[in-house]
Amino acid sequence: MEDIRLRVEDVSYSYPDATEALSGISLAVSKGAFIGLLGANGSGKTTLLKIMDGIIKDYSGGVRLDGEDIKTLSPKTIYRKMGLVFQNPDDQLFAPTVFEDVSFGPLNMGMEESEIRGNVAKALESVGMDGSAGKTINHLSFGQKKRIAIAGLLAMGHEILLLDEPTAGLDPMGEYRMMELLTSLSKEGGITIVMATHSVELVPLFLDRLYILSRGRLKRGGLPEEVFTAPEEMRDVKLRLPQIAELIWKLKHEDGLELGDKKLPLTVGEARRLLLDIFKK
Ligand SMILES: Nc1ncnc2c1ncn2[C@@H]1O[C@H](COP(=O)(O)OP(=O)(O)O)[C@@H](O)[C@H]1O
Ligand SMILES: [Mg+2]
Repeated sequence: MEDIRLRVEDVSYSYPDATEALSGISLAVSKGAFIGLLGANGSGKTTLLKIMDGIIKDYSGGVRLDGEDIKTLSPKTIYRKMGLVFQNPDDQLFAPTVFEDVSFGPLNMGMEESEIRGNVAKALESVGMDGSAGKTINHLSFGQKKRIAIAGLLAMGHEILLLDEPTAGLDPMGEYRMMELLTSLSKEGGITIVMATHSVELVPLFLDRLYILSRGRLKRGGLPEEVFTAPEEMRDVKLRLPQIAELIWKLKHEDGLELGDKKLPLTVGEARRLLLDIFKK
Protein backbone atom coordinates (compact mmCIF):
# COMPACT_ATOMS: atom_id res chain seq x y z
CA MET A 1 0.00 0.00 0.00
CA GLU A 2 1.13 3.51 -0.71
CA ASP A 3 2.34 5.38 2.30
CA ILE A 4 0.08 8.45 2.56
CA ARG A 5 1.64 11.18 4.68
CA LEU A 6 -0.89 13.92 4.25
CA ARG A 7 -4.56 13.54 3.52
CA VAL A 8 -7.05 16.35 2.96
CA GLU A 9 -10.66 15.19 3.31
CA ASP A 10 -13.54 17.31 2.04
CA VAL A 11 -12.11 20.58 3.34
CA SER A 12 -14.15 23.77 3.02
CA TYR A 13 -13.29 27.15 4.43
CA SER A 14 -14.67 30.68 4.44
CA TYR A 15 -12.76 33.65 5.85
CA PRO A 16 -14.41 35.62 8.68
CA ASP A 17 -15.62 38.20 6.12
CA ALA A 18 -17.57 35.35 4.45
CA THR A 19 -15.25 34.99 1.43
CA GLU A 20 -15.63 31.38 0.40
CA ALA A 21 -12.01 30.40 -0.16
CA LEU A 22 -12.19 26.59 -0.45
CA SER A 23 -14.93 24.08 -0.96
CA GLY A 24 -14.91 20.30 -0.89
CA ILE A 25 -11.16 19.81 -1.32
CA SER A 26 -9.85 16.24 -1.06
CA LEU A 27 -6.38 15.02 -1.95
CA ALA A 28 -3.73 12.64 -0.71
CA VAL A 29 0.02 13.14 -0.71
CA SER A 30 2.15 10.02 -0.60
CA LYS A 31 5.60 9.80 0.94
CA GLY A 32 8.32 11.35 -1.20
CA ALA A 33 5.86 12.76 -3.75
CA PHE A 34 6.38 16.12 -5.41
CA ILE A 35 2.92 17.62 -5.85
CA GLY A 36 1.79 20.91 -7.38
CA LEU A 37 -1.29 22.99 -6.68
CA LEU A 38 -1.77 25.02 -9.84
CA GLY A 39 -4.19 27.92 -9.90
CA ALA A 40 -4.68 31.55 -10.84
CA ASN A 41 -4.45 34.31 -8.22
CA GLY A 42 -7.21 34.01 -5.66
CA SER A 43 -7.95 30.35 -6.44
CA GLY A 44 -7.23 29.29 -2.84
CA LYS A 45 -3.66 27.91 -2.97
CA THR A 46 -2.28 29.84 0.00
CA THR A 47 -5.39 29.13 2.07
CA LEU A 48 -5.07 25.40 1.38
CA LEU A 49 -1.38 25.37 2.35
CA LYS A 50 -2.19 27.22 5.59
CA ILE A 51 -4.88 24.68 6.41
CA MET A 52 -2.52 21.78 5.68
CA ASP A 53 0.07 23.32 7.99
CA GLY A 54 -2.42 23.85 10.82
CA ILE A 55 -2.22 27.67 10.70
CA ILE A 56 -5.92 28.04 9.79
CA LYS A 57 -8.02 25.82 12.05
CA ASP A 58 -11.70 26.67 11.80
CA TYR A 59 -12.34 24.80 8.53
CA SER A 60 -14.77 21.98 7.97
CA GLY A 61 -13.54 18.56 6.86
CA GLY A 62 -10.29 17.00 7.96
CA VAL A 63 -6.53 17.03 7.46
CA ARG A 64 -4.55 13.97 8.51
CA LEU A 65 -0.81 13.93 9.01
CA ASP A 66 0.45 10.34 9.08
CA GLY A 67 -3.11 9.28 9.83
CA GLU A 68 -3.70 11.68 12.72
CA ASP A 69 -6.18 14.57 12.61
CA ILE A 70 -4.00 17.69 12.79
CA LYS A 71 -6.63 19.44 14.92
CA THR A 72 -5.69 17.00 17.70
CA LEU A 73 -1.91 17.50 17.29
CA SER A 74 0.09 20.15 19.12
CA PRO A 75 1.82 22.75 16.93
CA LYS A 76 5.11 21.27 18.12
CA THR A 77 4.20 17.81 16.84
CA ILE A 78 3.16 19.24 13.48
CA TYR A 79 6.25 21.43 13.14
CA ARG A 80 8.54 18.54 13.91
CA LYS A 81 7.44 16.91 10.66
CA MET A 82 6.11 19.59 8.38
CA GLY A 83 6.65 23.24 7.61
CA LEU A 84 5.38 25.98 5.31
CA VAL A 85 7.65 28.27 3.32
CA PHE A 86 5.87 31.58 2.69
CA GLN A 87 5.73 33.12 -0.75
CA ASN A 88 7.76 36.12 0.33
CA PRO A 89 11.00 35.17 2.13
CA ASP A 90 10.98 38.55 3.88
CA ASP A 91 7.93 37.31 5.84
CA GLN A 92 9.93 34.30 6.99
CA LEU A 93 13.46 35.52 7.61
CA PHE A 94 13.95 37.95 10.44
CA ALA A 95 17.36 37.31 12.03
CA PRO A 96 20.27 39.41 10.74
CA THR A 97 22.49 36.60 9.46
CA VAL A 98 22.00 33.37 7.54
CA PHE A 99 23.28 31.25 10.43
CA GLU A 100 20.98 32.90 12.97
CA ASP A 101 17.99 32.48 10.67
CA VAL A 102 18.56 28.85 9.76
CA SER A 103 19.42 27.90 13.36
CA PHE A 104 16.40 29.66 14.87
CA GLY A 105 13.98 26.76 14.40
CA PRO A 106 16.34 24.02 15.63
CA LEU A 107 17.28 26.21 18.62
CA ASN A 108 13.60 26.64 19.50
CA MET A 109 13.06 22.91 19.21
CA GLY A 110 15.68 22.47 21.93
CA MET A 111 18.36 20.80 19.81
CA GLU A 112 21.93 20.61 21.13
CA GLU A 113 24.37 23.18 19.82
CA SER A 114 26.56 20.64 18.05
CA GLU A 115 23.53 19.09 16.38
CA ILE A 116 22.35 22.53 15.32
CA ARG A 117 25.69 23.36 13.71
CA GLY A 118 25.63 20.09 11.80
CA ASN A 119 22.02 20.53 10.70
CA VAL A 120 22.55 24.12 9.57
CA ALA A 121 25.62 23.18 7.53
CA LYS A 122 23.80 20.25 5.94
CA ALA A 123 20.67 22.30 5.20
CA LEU A 124 22.70 25.10 3.59
CA GLU A 125 24.51 22.52 1.47
CA SER A 126 21.21 20.94 0.37
CA VAL A 127 19.96 24.28 -0.94
CA GLY A 128 23.26 25.12 -2.63
CA MET A 129 24.14 27.89 -0.15
CA ASP A 130 27.09 26.32 1.69
CA GLY A 131 29.59 28.90 2.82
CA SER A 132 26.92 31.55 3.31
CA ALA A 133 26.35 31.06 7.06
CA GLY A 134 28.04 34.33 7.99
CA LYS A 135 26.29 36.44 5.38
CA THR A 136 23.86 39.24 6.15
CA ILE A 137 20.33 38.33 5.03
CA ASN A 138 19.77 41.81 3.62
CA HIS A 139 22.67 41.35 1.21
CA LEU A 140 21.20 38.22 -0.39
CA SER A 141 19.29 38.17 -3.65
CA PHE A 142 15.57 37.31 -3.62
CA GLY A 143 16.30 33.80 -4.91
CA GLN A 144 18.99 33.24 -2.29
CA LYS A 145 16.57 34.34 0.43
CA LYS A 146 14.07 31.77 -0.83
CA ARG A 147 16.74 29.09 -0.54
CA ILE A 148 17.61 30.19 3.00
CA ALA A 149 13.93 30.05 3.99
CA ILE A 150 13.82 26.43 2.75
CA ALA A 151 17.09 25.64 4.58
CA GLY A 152 15.48 26.90 7.79
CA LEU A 153 12.87 24.14 7.57
CA LEU A 154 15.32 21.44 6.47
CA ALA A 155 17.53 22.25 9.49
CA MET A 156 14.60 21.38 11.76
CA GLY A 157 14.51 17.97 10.09
CA HIS A 158 11.22 18.51 8.27
CA GLU A 159 10.20 15.62 6.07
CA ILE A 160 7.26 17.43 4.50
CA LEU A 161 7.64 20.85 2.91
CA LEU A 162 4.74 23.04 1.89
CA LEU A 163 5.97 25.78 -0.42
CA ASP A 164 3.94 28.79 -1.48
CA GLU A 165 5.00 29.89 -4.98
CA PRO A 166 8.69 29.05 -4.51
CA THR A 167 9.53 30.17 -8.05
CA ALA A 168 7.53 33.42 -8.11
CA GLY A 169 9.76 36.45 -8.55
CA LEU A 170 12.79 34.47 -9.73
CA ASP A 171 14.48 35.04 -13.08
CA PRO A 172 14.24 32.21 -15.67
CA MET A 173 17.49 30.55 -14.60
CA GLY A 174 16.57 30.97 -10.92
CA GLU A 175 13.22 29.34 -11.59
CA TYR A 176 14.89 26.39 -13.29
CA ARG A 177 17.44 26.00 -10.51
CA MET A 178 14.75 26.17 -7.82
CA MET A 179 12.81 23.38 -9.53
CA GLU A 180 15.99 21.31 -9.83
CA LEU A 181 16.69 21.87 -6.14
CA LEU A 182 13.17 20.82 -5.10
CA THR A 183 13.31 17.79 -7.40
CA SER A 184 16.57 16.66 -5.83
CA LEU A 185 15.20 17.22 -2.29
CA SER A 186 12.27 15.05 -3.26
CA LYS A 187 14.01 12.34 -5.30
CA GLU A 188 17.31 12.08 -3.45
CA GLY A 189 16.40 13.48 -0.05
CA GLY A 190 13.07 11.65 0.24
CA ILE A 191 11.35 14.92 1.24
CA THR A 192 7.62 15.10 0.50
CA ILE A 193 6.78 18.38 -1.21
CA VAL A 194 3.53 20.22 -1.93
CA MET A 195 4.05 23.46 -3.83
CA ALA A 196 1.62 26.13 -4.96
CA THR A 197 2.24 27.76 -8.32
CA HIS A 198 0.52 29.74 -11.04
CA SER A 199 3.22 28.90 -13.58
CA VAL A 200 2.15 26.74 -16.53
CA GLU A 201 5.38 27.02 -18.48
CA LEU A 202 8.26 25.26 -16.75
CA VAL A 203 7.26 24.28 -13.24
CA PRO A 204 4.71 21.52 -14.03
CA LEU A 205 7.29 19.47 -15.93
CA PHE A 206 9.07 18.67 -12.70
CA LEU A 207 6.01 17.56 -10.76
CA ASP A 208 4.79 14.00 -10.13
CA ARG A 209 1.24 15.16 -9.91
CA LEU A 210 -0.60 18.38 -10.53
CA TYR A 211 -3.93 19.55 -9.11
CA ILE A 212 -5.77 22.42 -10.74
CA LEU A 213 -7.48 24.72 -8.29
CA SER A 214 -10.08 27.22 -9.45
CA ARG A 215 -12.28 29.41 -7.25
CA GLY A 216 -11.63 27.21 -4.26
CA ARG A 217 -12.40 23.93 -5.98
CA LEU A 218 -10.16 21.16 -7.28
CA LYS A 219 -10.89 20.75 -10.98
CA ARG A 220 -8.51 18.11 -12.24
CA GLY A 221 -5.55 16.13 -11.02
CA GLY A 222 -2.99 14.01 -12.78
CA LEU A 223 0.34 13.95 -14.54
CA PRO A 224 1.18 17.27 -16.20
CA GLU A 225 0.45 15.82 -19.67
CA GLU A 226 -2.96 14.65 -18.45
CA VAL A 227 -3.89 18.00 -16.96
CA PHE A 228 -3.00 20.25 -19.90
CA THR A 229 -5.68 19.36 -22.38
CA ALA A 230 -7.37 22.11 -24.36
CA PRO A 231 -7.11 25.93 -24.38
CA GLU A 232 -10.74 26.49 -23.41
CA GLU A 233 -10.50 24.15 -20.42
CA MET A 234 -7.52 26.12 -19.21
CA ARG A 235 -9.30 29.45 -19.81
CA ASP A 236 -12.19 28.20 -17.67
CA VAL A 237 -9.78 28.02 -14.74
CA LYS A 238 -8.13 31.36 -15.65
CA LEU A 239 -4.92 29.67 -16.80
CA ARG A 240 -3.54 28.87 -20.23
CA LEU A 241 -1.72 26.01 -21.89
CA PRO A 242 2.07 26.05 -22.04
CA GLN A 243 2.86 27.95 -25.26
CA ILE A 244 4.35 24.96 -27.02
CA ALA A 245 1.24 22.88 -26.25
CA GLU A 246 -0.99 25.66 -27.54
CA LEU A 247 0.96 25.82 -30.81
CA ILE A 248 0.50 22.08 -31.40
CA TRP A 249 -3.17 22.24 -30.38
CA LYS A 250 -3.80 25.03 -32.90
CA LEU A 251 -1.93 23.27 -35.69
CA LYS A 252 -4.14 20.26 -35.09
CA HIS A 253 -7.54 21.81 -34.40
CA GLU A 254 -7.42 25.04 -36.40
CA ASP A 255 -5.06 24.20 -39.27
CA GLY A 256 -6.03 20.55 -39.68
CA LEU A 257 -2.53 19.12 -39.33
CA GLU A 258 -2.81 15.34 -38.88
CA LEU A 259 -1.29 14.69 -35.45
CA GLY A 260 -3.13 11.60 -34.19
CA ASP A 261 -4.49 11.55 -30.63
CA LYS A 262 -1.24 11.73 -28.76
CA LYS A 263 -1.12 13.89 -25.61
CA LEU A 264 -0.08 17.50 -26.21
CA PRO A 265 3.69 17.97 -25.98
CA LEU A 266 4.74 20.21 -23.09
CA THR A 267 8.37 20.79 -24.03
CA VAL A 268 10.19 22.02 -27.12
CA GLY A 269 11.94 18.63 -27.35
CA GLU A 270 8.65 16.69 -27.40
CA ALA A 271 7.07 19.06 -29.93
CA ARG A 272 10.16 18.88 -32.10
CA ARG A 273 10.02 15.07 -32.24
CA LEU A 274 6.30 15.11 -33.01
CA LEU A 275 6.70 17.60 -35.87
CA LEU A 276 9.77 15.88 -37.29
CA ASP A 277 7.84 12.60 -37.39
CA ILE A 278 5.14 14.29 -39.45
CA PHE A 279 7.47 16.09 -41.81
CA LYS A 280 9.35 12.87 -42.50
CA LYS A 281 6.17 11.01 -43.47
N1 LIG B 1 -7.42 37.12 5.19
C1 LIG B 1 -8.37 37.03 4.24
N2 LIG B 1 -9.62 37.52 4.47
C2 LIG B 1 -10.61 37.42 3.54
N3 LIG B 1 -10.43 36.85 2.33
C3 LIG B 1 -9.21 36.35 2.05
C4 LIG B 1 -8.12 36.41 2.98
N4 LIG B 1 -7.04 35.84 2.41
C5 LIG B 1 -7.43 35.43 1.19
N5 LIG B 1 -8.74 35.73 0.97
C6 LIG B 1 -9.53 35.39 -0.22
O1 LIG B 1 -9.62 33.97 -0.32
C7 LIG B 1 -9.52 33.57 -1.67
C8 LIG B 1 -8.33 32.63 -1.85
O2 LIG B 1 -7.14 33.36 -1.58
P1 LIG B 1 -5.70 32.69 -1.59
O3 LIG B 1 -5.76 31.41 -0.83
O4 LIG B 1 -4.74 33.73 -1.12
O5 LIG B 1 -5.49 32.38 -3.13
P2 LIG B 1 -4.13 32.16 -3.97
O6 LIG B 1 -3.04 31.84 -3.00
O7 LIG B 1 -4.44 31.05 -4.91
O8 LIG B 1 -3.87 33.45 -4.71
C9 LIG B 1 -9.43 34.84 -2.50
O9 LIG B 1 -10.74 35.17 -2.91
C10 LIG B 1 -8.90 35.86 -1.51
O10 LIG B 1 -9.30 37.15 -1.85
MG1 LIG C 1 -1.22 32.72 -2.74
